[in-house]
Amino acid sequence: MATAPLAADDPAIQALIEDVSNLEKQVFRADTACALTLPGASRAGIEAVIASLVEPGDRVLVGVYGHFGELLCTLATRHGATVERVDAEWGTTVDVQAIVSRVRETGPKLVAIVHADTSTGIVQPLSEIGAACRESGALLLVDCVLSIGGCEVDVAGWDIDAAVGGLQKCLGGPPGLALVTLSERAQGALSKRAHSAYLDLSRSIGVSTSMVLGAREALRIVLEEGLESRWRRHRAASEALRAGLAAMGLELFTKKDSVPMITLVKVPRGIDEAGVRQQLLLEHGIEIMAAFGPLRGNVWRIGTMGTNARLPSVLSVLGGLEAVLASRGFSIKRGAAVDAATQLSRQLL
Ligand SMILES: Cc1ncc(COP(=O)(O)O)c(C=O)c1O
Repeated sequence: MATAPLAADDPAIQALIEDVSNLEKQVFRADTACALTLPGASRAGIEAVIASLVEPGDRVLVGVYGHFGELLCTLATRHGATVERVDAEWGTTVDVQAIVSRVRETGPKLVAIVHADTSTGIVQPLSEIGAACRESGALLLVDCVLSIGGCEVDVAGWDIDAAVGGLQKCLGGPPGLALVTLSERAQGALSKRAHSAYLDLSRSIGVSTSMVLGAREALRIVLEEGLESRWRRHRAASEALRAGLAAMGLELFTKKDSVPMITLVKVPRGIDEAGVRQQLLLEHGIEIMAAFGPLRGNVWRIGTMGTNARLPSVLSVLGGLEAVLASRGFSIKRGAAVDAATQLSRQLL
């Protein structure tokens, strides 16, 4: 990324973009889909897909089971869609059959859903939704921002027409670039008059070459490790973390259907949720996250993503959290968390 930037018309840019596009297709398992890089946060990629596929008044069906499903509704509404939602309680997945029936009954232009919602740590099964969309002619947009690089994503196998990822989570790259795949159906459906002048996927959108070089390196590292090894590493790190948290006497919010890259843990009664996060950051240099929506104040979210999905990071978090909680009077058997995580990790690796 520190290489001198290339000018917009430098002939080397085309080869670089093609290189990144090929790497992106492998990481998303996207077969013949076209793969783009767009400037901005991951949500710029989601907004670009919506602005380029949806005309005002089109019907968009959204599966909502957390904060980022709400974002899909907001973006579709802002771009003039008539939005219908299928909701699930936070901490559960959306009922696939409910989505499939609505797709068949109402024939939306676009179905939008998050693959793994960071607000709840739940992963949504997609293949039946993809098949129903193909059957009815609807396009399927999936937010893979959290899942890409950390657990299985199969764009071709699940009939996903537009998948969006970000570099900064399990791909272990810098934030600032959205990755977007488009199926042939989605490319054919791009509006001639996108509802955004800048985020218009029917024309090329200029990106910083420094960012694209960063993306190329991140994607190369992912493929060098191997997708399946990377998914196993994320799973092993989260299981070690969860074993450690349980040994510390904390109760997990994360249950089955949970993703391996984020763990939600309940704040013990009488403990100051924000105070612990602040102290952990100040004294140990470790940031864990607050929760969104109905979980706010009651749950911490701990990421094991990309380079942090490794035992040393897990042990640092457990050691730091134990020290902070003990200093606040929470009764803990000192050392148990690190021991439990280390032992499990030895069995898994
Ligand atoms: C599932 C999911 N979707 C979308 C986003 C938005 O990503 P960005 O902040 O890069 O726009 C996030 C960010 O946390 C996310 O976790």
